[in-house]
Amino acid sequence: MSDSERVAVRRAMCPGSFDPVTNGHLDIIDRAAELYDELVVAVFVNRSKSSLFTADERREMLLDSTAHKANVRIDVFQGLVVDYCRANDIPVIVKGLRAISDFDYELQMAQMNRGLAGVDTLFMPTNPEYSFLASSLVKEIANWGGDVSALVPPLVRKRLAERAAERHLDGPEGG
Ligand code: PNS
Repeated sequence: MSDSERVAVRRAMCPGSFDPVTNGHLDIIDRAAELYDELVVAVFVNRSKSSLFTADERREMLLDSTAHKANVRIDVFQGLVVDYCRANDIPVIVKGLRAISDFDYELQMAQMNRGLAGVDTLFMPTNPEYSFLASSLVKEIANWGGDVSALVPPLVRKRLAERAAERHLDGPEGG
């Protein structure tokens, strides 16, 4: 096949901690997957940040909740986002913005990633239904037995309940 016949694959990535994935993340993933031929959702492992779920557990929850999207691929990576992009021929990162408070940090990262490797970032406004939603809040609510069924997909709800039960068995502080 000649270069002129080859059709370029439009590829993008959504990086994040996904500890765990929420309906807010899934809204952005679904919408970004409509815009590109292939969307890679990459779980970034940050050893200096404590997480509730292992990278493999986070990957499993993402796989389950994006199974309906044929062009979404899930991966796990440790390192710089731009190194992942370079290695996988990904020119653009897609990020959701919930509120203006997200903007400062996201702009800083976007400019740094563009400066480091020419990788651009597209910001997508979060669905207002999820503008208050954060994995950290979901974890706190679930840890104390609150109802998170409107905030996360079913498998995540199940895994959160299991983890909360384990933590409460472990001791009075809940782990
Ligand atoms: O879901 P999060 O915790 O907001 O995701 C943050 C994440 C993983 C996207 C960010 O920490 C990141 O990009 N980590 C990879 C390391 C990296 O590339 N750092 C330099 C950013 S300029």
